[in-house]
Amino acid sequence: MMAAAVGTTLSVGSAISAGCKPGPVTLQKTMGVKLNSASRLSCFSGLKAISSVSGGQEASFLGSGSLAAIQRSFVAKAGERNQRSYMQLQSQASFKVAVLGAAGGIGQPLALLIKMSPLVSALHLYDIANVKGVAADLSHCNTPSQVLDFTGPSELASALKGVNVVVIPAGVPRKPGMTRDDLFSINAGIVKNLVEAAADNCPDAFIHIISNPINSTVPIAAEVLKKKGVYDPKKLFGVTTLDVVRANTFVAQKKNLKLIDVDVPVIGGHAGMTILPLLSKTRPSVTFTDEEVQELTVRIQNAGTEVVEAKAGDGSATLSMAYAAARFVESSLRALDGDTDVYECTYIESDVTDLPFFASRVKLGKKGVEAVITKDLQGLSEYEEKALETLKAELKGSIEKGIAFANKQPVAVA
Ligand SMILES: NC(=O)c1ccc[n+]([C@@H]2O[C@H](COP(=O)([O-])OP(=O)(O)OC[C@H]3O[C@@H](n4cnc5c(N)ncnc54)[C@H](O)[C@@H]3O)[C@@H](O)[C@H]2O)c1
Repeated sequence: MMAAAVGTTLSVGSAISAGCKPGPVTLQKTMGVKLNSASRLSCFSGLKAISSVSGGQEASFLGSGSLAAIQRSFVAKAGERNQRSYMQLQSQASFKVAVLGAAGGIGQPLALLIKMSPLVSALHLYDIANVKGVAADLSHCNTPSQVLDFTGPSELASALKGVNVVVIPAGVPRKPGMTRDDLFSINAGIVKNLVEAAADNCPDAFIHIISNPINSTVPIAAEVLKKKGVYDPKKLFGVTTLDVVRANTFVAQKKNLKLIDVDVPVIGGHAGMTILPLLSKTRPSVTFTDEEVQELTVRIQNAGTEVVEAKAGDGSATLSMAYAAARFVESSLRALDGDTDVYECTYIESDVTDLPFFASRVKLGKKGVEAVITKDLQGLSEYEEKALETLKAELKGSIEKGIAFANKQPVAVA
């Protein structure tokens, strides 16, 4: 295991600048880096989701509410608006995050994005191979978190001790022609083992599952946690943020909208037709022809396959996935940190439908899911109602497959 030195300066501005609206708060840090919280920190809030579900025009990640929230989480915590030292800002970094599968296509860029978060004090990178170099490389970034590397099962417990958020992108990705379900035979066992270790070593942590097929791996994780006696359904999440990110991007392009204003809730699951973007709930309010609804829905559902085919055998989405996962991590950390205005779509144990697991928008708080936003599911279009009914059969099968797998596995009692 290698402990990497913590940097002594924070060049947040250089990492997060570009293309944002100037805002009212300009901060001068004593280390010589000018930090305009509104124009620069808000850029990093590209990782931030919608900040409110009540206002009709609230921007998804750059509206006034978002700006205020990002200022709270990145800057205001450090004290007053005027002069402040790096040490003050650094002292706010207080959460430990572990990435399991950190040397992979998603793991590496995800680790970089998490390393940029001033809310993180320690970043634990775990993989079965090749993680030392990734940690050494990342540790040179002058952001607050300490980077530690852990290789192989003998170091897994140490990687997880005291961690607040565990992110799991470990496993194999798709190749052309494969469905996410084709990954089940390998990834189910990987997720089972990693969640078992999380149950033993950080039972209170938020667990973010990225490894596919999420529709099954999240139920597997739930069963493992139950057997371990530490299951808290409010803290187990299937990361479906990429579906929202894609939906927002494609809708903005199609309707020529300002990207930062667009928010499309995506519900259901995370595979093919189980992914259901609720275009009728798009904010800002926009109308679609039947053809546009069909075209956009199918594109959002198949966007992962679009990347798999473009990569032609070299894996699936990694960079956009890392971006989406980092946004979900950042949202979780803000919620843990006491921000009361954090909303994300995620696949969780749920009773909003007759299925035991379902993705929908939730409010996140210090203890995980604070509320499920059922409003999104009311007043669906006829197309969405039909698609929701159709997806249930497939999603149900994937959930049952996961539960059956988990129940066949022995789980070591700690
Ligand atoms: N949720 C989503 O939206 C989404 C999107 C894209 C990909 N994915 C999934 O994410 C997973 C990872 O994709 P990738 O492109 O990073 O794959 P990758 O092959 O590039 O990386 C996977 C990493 O996991 C590691 N690994 C394998 N077994 C492990 C174990 N037992 N413990 C710890 N680490 C282990 C590998 O060594 C590798 O470094 C795949 O299952 C893929 O389907 C999910």
